[in-house]
Amino acid sequence: MIESNFDESCEEPREVSGGSKDEEEIFEVNLRPRSLAEFVGQEELKDGLDIFINAAKKRGEPIDHTLLYGNPGLGKTTLAHIIANEMEGNIRITSGPALERVGDLAAILSNLQKGDILFIDEIHRMNRAIEEVLYPAMEDFALDLVVGKGPSARTLRLGLEKFTIIGATTRPSLLSSPLRDRFGSTYRLNFYNNDEMGSIVSRSAGILGVKTDDTTCQTIAERSRKTPRIANRLLKRVRDYSQVKHDGDLTSEIANAALDMLAIDPLGLDAVDRGILEVIIDKFHGGPVGLTTLAAATQEETASLEEIYEPFLLQLGFIERTPRGRIVTDKGYEHLGLEKPTDTLL
Ligand SMILES: Nc1ncnc2c1ncn2[C@@H]1O[C@H](COP(=O)(O)OP(=O)(O)OP(=O)(O)O)[C@@H](O)[C@H]1O
Ligand SMILES: [Mg+2]
Repeated sequence: MIESNFDESCEEPREVSGGSKDEEEIFEVNLRPRSLAEFVGQEELKDGLDIFINAAKKRGEPIDHTLLYGNPGLGKTTLAHIIANEMEGNIRITSGPALERVGDLAAILSNLQKGDILFIDEIHRMNRAIEEVLYPAMEDFALDLVVGKGPSARTLRLGLEKFTIIGATTRPSLLSSPLRDRFGSTYRLNFYNNDEMGSIVSRSAGILGVKTDDTTCQTIAERSRKTPRIANRLLKRVRDYSQVKHDGDLTSEIANAALDMLAIDPLGLDAVDRGILEVIIDKFHGGPVGLTTLAAATQEETASLEEIYEPFLLQLGFIERTPRGRIVTDKGYEHLGLEKPTDTLL
């Protein structure tokens, strides 16, 4: 079983990873949209959520349990807070790996008030025994406790207030089906388009008090891998660069110079991404190459390749997953300025 705790260790040095870094948290909180109206993009999801929230409010009931999934940095945690704000409920925050004992979860659940939201981040990493406590809690708002030991043991059912669980995950396929089935609604967050990314950069620049213009916001947006967290991080780096080398204001030239210095190319690929494409091309003739072989050749973990690097390369259409392995596409060759050989193995 692949443990995804690599994200803390392997992602750290990369400017373009979707995952968050510890020191970023305070910075992120300041930039986080607080209402659905402020949340840029994901129009379909917002429309659905808006109706769902308003209907629940009209009925005077908490909303159904909701599962949010999508790549790191696309706005799952932000949305969970927005839902709580819009519902005017309290939000309690925990995560799959933080819930180590059944008692931890039971204590949290029994303290929830009516209408509270329990946000469980990385819900796919929750232990199965703990997950089972959630089933009756989600379905019947009840906690089944085992009292006593041996033959005299019996279960005691404890009623809970009507609350809402919001689960977030980057890996929905790792959720067990009984857990998945207990969510009344499921929303997927997609990558953002360039216009939306531009608006996000411009909004963040406004909050940070950075003087800039639309073209510069667009320059940063285009190199941010369609991911708001990366856009905010690059904006911060570019601002720092300008404060040191210039007067703190941002122009396209300054943004381009700073991003070139970080070796982030115009599509947001960094040296690691380009290295993966180059290895497939140089060592495997453009592919197909199996995941484990590629991992060995690039000295990356298979899980990092699958979860961190490949999604964006696939999204750009630079690689393809085939039954025989990964291949670099024509577009991938083109991006590196290389000609695709005509005698490939495919
Ligand atoms: N739609 C959006 N509009 C504006 N800013 C956004 C949007 N989505 C995300 N952000 C910004 O990106 C940052 C990262 O978002 P968030 O923490 O919600 O991502 P996540 O999906 O929970 O990531 P992870 O999987 O790593 O937990 C937030 O601080 C927020 O400022
Ligand atoms: Mg999150």
